[in-house]
Amino acid sequence: MRQNGAASDCSVEPILRLLKRSTLSTGARGPQQSKSPTQPCYNMALVSRREEPTTGTDRFFLTTPIYYINARPHLGTCYTTVIADIIARYQRMRGRDVLLVTGSDENSQKTVIAAKEAGEEPLPYCDQMVKHYHDAWRELNIGPYEFVRTTEARHARLVQHFFSRLYEQGDIYQGTYSGWYCTPCETFFTERELKPENLCPKCERPAHPVEEEAYFFRLSTYEERLRRFFADHPDFVLPSFRRNEMLSRLNEGLQDICVSRSSLEWGIRLPWDEKHVFYVWVEALLAYLTGSGYRFDEPDSAHYWPPDLHLMAKDIPWFHAIVFPAMLMAYGLPPANQMIVHGYWLIRGGKMSKSKGLVITPHEVVDLMGADGLRYFYAREVPLGLDGTISLEAIVERYNFELGNDLGNLLNRLLPMTERYFDGAVPEQGTPASGDAELAELTEKVTQRTLQLYGDYELSRGIEEVFSLVRAANKYIDERKPWELAQQPQRKDEFSAGFSLLFTAIRNIAVLLAPVIPTSAQRIWEQLGLTGDLQELGFSVLEEPFPAGTHIGHAEPLFPRVEMPERTAEPAKPVGAHAAPDIHTTGELQTKEEPMEASQITFDDFMRVEIIAAKILSAERVEGTDKLIKMNVDDGRGGRVCVAGIGHVYEPEKLVGLTLPMVANLKPAKLRGVLSEGMILAAQDDAGNLSLVVLDKDIAPGSRIT
Ligand code: MSP
Repeated sequence: MRQNGAASDCSVEPILRLLKRSTLSTGARGPQQSKSPTQPCYNMALVSRREEPTTGTDRFFLTTPIYYINARPHLGTCYTTVIADIIARYQRMRGRDVLLVTGSDENSQKTVIAAKEAGEEPLPYCDQMVKHYHDAWRELNIGPYEFVRTTEARHARLVQHFFSRLYEQGDIYQGTYSGWYCTPCETFFTERELKPENLCPKCERPAHPVEEEAYFFRLSTYEERLRRFFADHPDFVLPSFRRNEMLSRLNEGLQDICVSRSSLEWGIRLPWDEKHVFYVWVEALLAYLTGSGYRFDEPDSAHYWPPDLHLMAKDIPWFHAIVFPAMLMAYGLPPANQMIVHGYWLIRGGKMSKSKGLVITPHEVVDLMGADGLRYFYAREVPLGLDGTISLEAIVERYNFELGNDLGNLLNRLLPMTERYFDGAVPEQGTPASGDAELAELTEKVTQRTLQLYGDYELSRGIEEVFSLVRAANKYIDERKPWELAQQPQRKDEFSAGFSLLFTAIRNIAVLLAPVIPTSAQRIWEQLGLTGDLQELGFSVLEEPFPAGTHIGHAEPLFPRVEMPERTAEPAKPVGAHAAPDIHTTGELQTKEEPMEASQITFDDFMRVEIIAAKILSAERVEGTDKLIKMNVDDGRGGRVCVAGIGHVYEPEKLVGLTLPMVANLKPAKLRGVLSEGMILAAQDDAGNLSLVVLDKDIAPGSRIT
């Protein structure tokens, strides 16, 4: 990714004019433009400038991958959607008509397997699972969005029509597929591509051999056209190192790809050969077209195609950058204008993933600090494109220090002073003192740079800019000491002017943060005494001076300090299940986690741990969590409550009646508000499999285990 500091020497100009000249594409594709001398000189690490469209409406259409729903959303899978929502809000606040398409990828083998495990048919299973995605999007304040389920009839009809055209024009032919398949990745591989012991090169789980009748898409015949497309659109794949990866795959030469499966029942049938269903990946890509409102029976009716932006993680650019454009070329529609490939969120040094049992759910974070804390972390922590390490601690830290201490305090200082010195009404701009020009200038510069950086998908750097203004405003208060100026009536004008500048600065801070932390930004807006919905008002409010005489709103703490849940703060964790979801998910990540040394303890040390037999009398899920199970156990001493993070593997009712070892003298800990007074034990392997330790014979509860 290119990085430079060119933003700093730009001159100040009105915000809307700047936005109009900004280069975000809105559906019209054009070759890269060279920078004209009249263009502003902002830094562009992700996006190169394009011409504004000369025709059509001012639209912006972006997509997230559609998610496999054999698992509930976690912080890895939610990332793309939150980032997409931030970009969508930014575009809406610019006044654009925005469409965000997301959805669920339901026609996969994984769905069938997961449904079977849950004892359900695939479709009812999907109906259930898809709710978790809508719930997560609601919790994370994502919207509006268009959600495409690939089991919907509108999608199936489009897929059948799309591929029928390709088949009829000779782009699809029949053959036999012989190779390897990784079900978790739903991807075909050649033997050469596999890792030793036939492991999938992507997820390193076992792939299996497949040989079946199949249809193939003549991807190889699009090699040259794709090469030209990449040459004409040098910013199609961002960051550029991902583009280079795609180019080198293109240069290795393209093979035709399998587009159907004849060994599966679940999926969308090929209209010309009903023994086959479409290979899940090729039809999933068309969910974007379904969501765009494109009507194949009325291709001239209004729709949003092509997308301005596809967002995805680094495991799937091949399908988006090579396979999909070729499919669209064959059909006769343009590919997306651009795609951004972001990195992974890592936990304990590996990709956060359900299969490894290493996940933090959005619910856990939102419960603690609301959606804005997580949205802020996602956007601020790493630039789009790079991997990042995530933990509950890191999220809490950013929330407490940046949102709470820096931003929250600024407001907490300004509002009471306004009440005290100006009867709660924002003063006239007056004549600023000579030193005040700096704050005014910085406010304007930060505003322009941030909007530009957001437009270039540099969210983290944009936020950094905003916080430079937050810090400058705090410093301004520290240095100017308004409480001293208030004692000097002869400096009243200067005093008022300084306040007016501060109000403009904070107002702009709120507006600039609105795409990222929409709820908090609106609350700041209202506490400043301003009215209306910030998302609807958009960035044009930045053009106006802060209206003097505005009566400030009711001040209330914005980012109350968040304490880490007790158990998660512990550095060393047993393998056991006590508090597992919060602990094993949040974790002390790479840096903090020491390699486990087989340090020795004495017999006396061991005897200090009191392990007893405990019989589970009743068990139920802790409300609002997937993993925590609350158990009433007979400990031979009148009973106690034990909470364990095993709900993702065990059903509560299956636990009742088991007698198992329980650590009885561990300090009690509160988990999601429930006091746990004991810890049961479980083994967990690298693949995330969890197995409870259970006593194999009836034994009196309370018996000591040594
Ligand atoms: N169904 C396909 C996408 C089809 S799009 C036409 C798929 N689904 S997925 O549920 O496995 O992943 C969806 C997206 O979430 C992918 O881009 C994936 O890489 C991303 N993430 C899943 N775990 C992630 C992290 N730990 N970190 C960041 N993103 C990750 O692939």
